[in-house]
Amino acid sequence: MQNQFSDFRSDTVTTPSAEMRQVMSEADVGDDDYRDDPTVKRLEEKVADLFEKPAALFLPSGTQSNLIAILTHCQRGEEIITGKGYHIHAWEGGGASALGGVIVNPLTTNETGEINQDELSVSIKKGSGHEPSTKLLSLENTYCGMVQPVEKLDILTYIARKANISTHLDGARLANAVIKTGNSFASYGRLFDTVSFCLSKGLGAPVGSVLVGGPDFIERARRQRKQLGGGMRQSGILAAAGLYALEHNLNRLNTDHHNASVLAQKLSQNSVFHVRHNLTHTNIVYADIEPDKAESMHAHLASNHIKVNSAEAVIIEGKIWFRFRFVTHLNIDDEDINRLIDCSNIFDG
Ligand SMILES: Cc1ncc(COP(=O)(O)O)c(C=O)c1O
Repeated sequence: MQNQFSDFRSDTVTTPSAEMRQVMSEADVGDDDYRDDPTVKRLEEKVADLFEKPAALFLPSGTQSNLIAILTHCQRGEEIITGKGYHIHAWEGGGASALGGVIVNPLTTNETGEINQDELSVSIKKGSGHEPSTKLLSLENTYCGMVQPVEKLDILTYIARKANISTHLDGARLANAVIKTGNSFASYGRLFDTVSFCLSKGLGAPVGSVLVGGPDFIERARRQRKQLGGGMRQSGILAAAGLYALEHNLNRLNTDHHNASVLAQKLSQNSVFHVRHNLTHTNIVYADIEPDKAESMHAHLASNHIKVNSAEAVIIEGKIWFRFRFVTHLNIDDEDINRLIDCSNIFDG
């Protein structure tokens, strides 16, 4: 337990270690808007190489990276197909439609986030007559911590390619999928035209995402970044944290996955929680609770210095539950897990 609070809300809450701060303070920097920052260039080259893509662009956030990908792939009035719960549809403030005039067509997914291939095939529109034309298929891996099988991604992107539409992967937490499956970043990169990859989730950098793709695409994306005010100056300080994160924090994601499975197993011994083991693939544990207990459990944990997001209503086989999610990350250790378990075991709501 490194902090006064045990914070299970997200893997975005991590704070940079002393070593990470040290490399940030020593980074070689220049004005990246003039393409003068050697550390940003080093990070872009490293991530492009990981994905075996020709080019990459460093961006302040995953949301901006996805938005820029969409704005670069699509014109106003064109359509993206994505999943209903995927981040670009559900959690990015409608940016693609608000700023790009792009229509988002969200397909229903199964519980673990997979789009049905037949539904994809019949949803692609040619843009003849009255319909908008489908321009992009945007998938997500991991989806809410759930690993999407590479064979499935292969089929879905094949359908898109055959129909002449582009493909984008929101790989905010692709590092977790890579560590969990043993597949390389390149094995995902090869399926998609573009991938957005976050350094500020489980990898523990304070800021930063990288968009990878072809050289022309990334040049156009760079212009979109300027238009959105995302061009940065001595951003090598931030890129240095990203490089450090890739070098030191990638393999340790195994620890987060292990901690999540320990947490799931221990929580399932508490009869208040119905742990959804089938949804716990990497660093996110889902546990459902009766609706009348959700708020008091949240307050009970908060008063014991445990931060979790409020539970959200879900319907399972016609019954309403409230679902908590607990995220493990580099600032969560055994003591935090035991604090959560001990505290929820004395819940008498
Ligand atoms: C799957 C996914 N994509 C994109 C993002 C956006 O990243 P950011 O918070 O850096 O904008 C998130 C954030 O949690 C995410 O979970």
